[in-house]
Amino acid sequence: MPRVLNIGSLNIDYVYQVPHFLRGGETLAAYRRAIHIGGKGLNQSVALARAGLRTSHAGIVGQDGTFLKVFLEHEGVGVSRVAVDPNESSGHTFIQVVPEGGENAILYYPGTNVRLTPEFVKSAMDDFGKGDALLVQNETSAVRYSIEHALEKGMRVIFNPSPFDSQAPLLPLNRISALIANETEAEGLLGLEKKEKTPEEAMDIVAELGRRYPETVILVTLGSQGVVCRMPGFEPDFIKAYPVHPADTTGAGDTFTGFAVRALMDAWEKTSADEAHAVLLEGLRFAAMAAAISVTRPGAAESIPFWKEVDEAMRDTD
Ligand code: RIB
Repeated sequence: MPRVLNIGSLNIDYVYQVPHFLRGGETLAAYRRAIHIGGKGLNQSVALARAGLRTSHAGIVGQDGTFLKVFLEHEGVGVSRVAVDPNESSGHTFIQVVPEGGENAILYYPGTNVRLTPEFVKSAMDDFGKGDALLVQNETSAVRYSIEHALEKGMRVIFNPSPFDSQAPLLPLNRISALIANETEAEGLLGLEKKEKTPEEAMDIVAELGRRYPETVILVTLGSQGVVCRMPGFEPDFIKAYPVHPADTTGAGDTFTGFAVRALMDAWEKTSADEAHAVLLEGLRFAAMAAAISVTRPGAAESIPFWKEVDEAMRDTD
């Protein structure tokens, strides 16, 4: 089975349940506080492993974050490429969650996540090559080097431009195998104004991304609406989200990404394009269900379901 190397952030999430998002100058009492395991990178490694993929994680934590590494190891993720830097604190967040729709607002301190250097990345990829995949988000340093070095080694590259910044559109996205973005990130890549999109408008965005990056599989998630997928050679497809009562949406995108990578890896094993397309769409329905389950639970990494649970939930919808 091909392997996935995920180069990504590991965070300690301090999560506060609040009546509304904090406003400038305001002091607000939270109802409840919890400390969760998170980071877009770590969450996605957990999702990859729970989706059944052979996963290794590369990243850096501080002394305060060694429990994040232990957690990943218990999940069956390879952690020999997770280093500890004693001179900086681990990446951490201050997350407000409001009752309305379980929406969140995140303040992020990168800490050790921006200590990744090209030398660190090169050595993390030593053992990987053709047939393996690199997954990378935009929450660490050395993202460009990670993508370029993996491409040089003949690896498939899957990029999740989250959180979005002005450097993301400058990356060689026309050479990667898959791009997984939410609508804000997709708009950012195209330099468009932020606004909520209908599925039809999102189809246009995906079609435009397809013109820019014709060889790349493009997935654009639309929150509670669903996801648009464009596989090269096919018209864009819309996959509807499964309706649930959300408790905490933190990590839903990461859950989707991990399960979507499983769908992509399964599709890339097929020799016929039609078969690959069908496998991809079926796998994306699974990924949508996994994300739906995750939002019904608090926290990020801990809220990610296992393959078996997703499979059972899918059977219940049949
Ligand atoms: O995507 C959710 C994650 O974003 C949280 O776990 C938090 O750590 C931030 O990185």
